[in-house]
Amino acid sequence: MNCCDLINKTKRKQALTENEIKWLVNEYTYDNIPDYQISAWLMAVCLNSLTDEETLALTLAMRDSGDILDLSGVNGITVDKHSTGGVGDKTSLIIGPVAAACGVYVPKMSGRGLGHTGGTIDKLESINGYRTEISFNEFIDIVNKTGFSIVSQSGKLCPADKKLYALRNASGTVDSIPLICASIMSKKLAVSADCILLDVKYGSGAFMKTIENAQKLADIMTRIGNMAGKKCAAMVTDINIPLGRNIGNALEVIEAVDVLNGKSKGKLYDLCIDLSAKMLELAGKGDIDICRKMAVDAISCGKAAEIFEKTIALHGGNAKIVSDTSLLPQPKYSHKVYANKTGTIQEMNSEEIGMTSLIIGAGRKSKTDSIDMSAGIIIDKECGEYVKEGDLLLTLYSSSVTDFSDAENRALNSIKII
Ligand code: URA
Repeated sequence: MNCCDLINKTKRKQALTENEIKWLVNEYTYDNIPDYQISAWLMAVCLNSLTDEETLALTLAMRDSGDILDLSGVNGITVDKHSTGGVGDKTSLIIGPVAAACGVYVPKMSGRGLGHTGGTIDKLESINGYRTEISFNEFIDIVNKTGFSIVSQSGKLCPADKKLYALRNASGTVDSIPLICASIMSKKLAVSADCILLDVKYGSGAFMKTIENAQKLADIMTRIGNMAGKKCAAMVTDINIPLGRNIGNALEVIEAVDVLNGKSKGKLYDLCIDLSAKMLELAGKGDIDICRKMAVDAISCGKAAEIFEKTIALHGGNAKIVSDTSLLPQPKYSHKVYANKTGTIQEMNSEEIGMTSLIIGAGRKSKTDSIDMSAGIIIDKECGEYVKEGDLLLTLYSSSVTDFSDAENRALNSIKII
């Protein structure tokens, strides 16, 4: 096979065969095709898209480029969930224990944060002692004991995606629906849970800026998951404003614990109930109304919080944080930001708020940066609320930054009051 012929086929909108796509992925993974040729092919995909059959072949070839987890040691039906990412998204910390409390198993692999969005693994590592890198056998053992575990994604999963994603970032080819689908679904299929729930975000800071494109991505990911033999469903959800009130690693764990303890009701709680109910429905626990009631009960009876506590302990973390969140890293400095005019909050730009939390230490600009676990933001007002000049909008927290002036400006610019 010849790479130039395959680039030309995609350029002319002629579908590649399964074997041709497998060949491209394998040869690139083993360094037998140079970056410039694959970049040209990726650009042709961005411009001309792929058929469902081509997208499935690409997804499976990427999945098969590395390890595929064997979850047969788990004692029941397994459910995985993936969010395409958003500022303040701590739903995995909540819905894992909720779903586990309702009798399904949630073996989850997650990543670290980069840029304006946080990562679930960083959030968990704000809990003193929590081990995110454990052996596969210990991971399965914890899942069997509590129903839920989150570990850092194994480096041996989908090496083809690692190489292709880096190349896409460097060649302006990230924003292609079939390429995003193959990248996400190859990793989900390599984890190999029985059911997969996808939370596809749209809005500022999300890959998909519009609800229409998010729906297209959700549809194709669901089709590819089903074609690959999994029970798969997707929800399309808004991330134009940050999810919940707390942004930053320890601060997000605090908010997740508050939801699990039944102390925080609001948009985050509602979304977690919807996501958990959908996971339970996928796993065959009943219709959506029954599943929603099960999820609500799992929080109100305390079982979900208990599962989170036990899981943290089995990971070596300080499980007392579930009853006393002051045991999480505490910020040394804080700075209150007040409204500079009177009016209604029309917009809270999620991406800008995420960047504000990054510059006070809560995130990474590059993969090797370290994180201030105590840093972040607590938002005091909601979008749509009426505020008077001088009212508290949000508080910035950090242990690594004492001059909050840049962050304050950025925060104020991200909130539109009219
Ligand atoms: N997340 C991924 O893992 N891959 C993409 O292509 C986009 C988002």
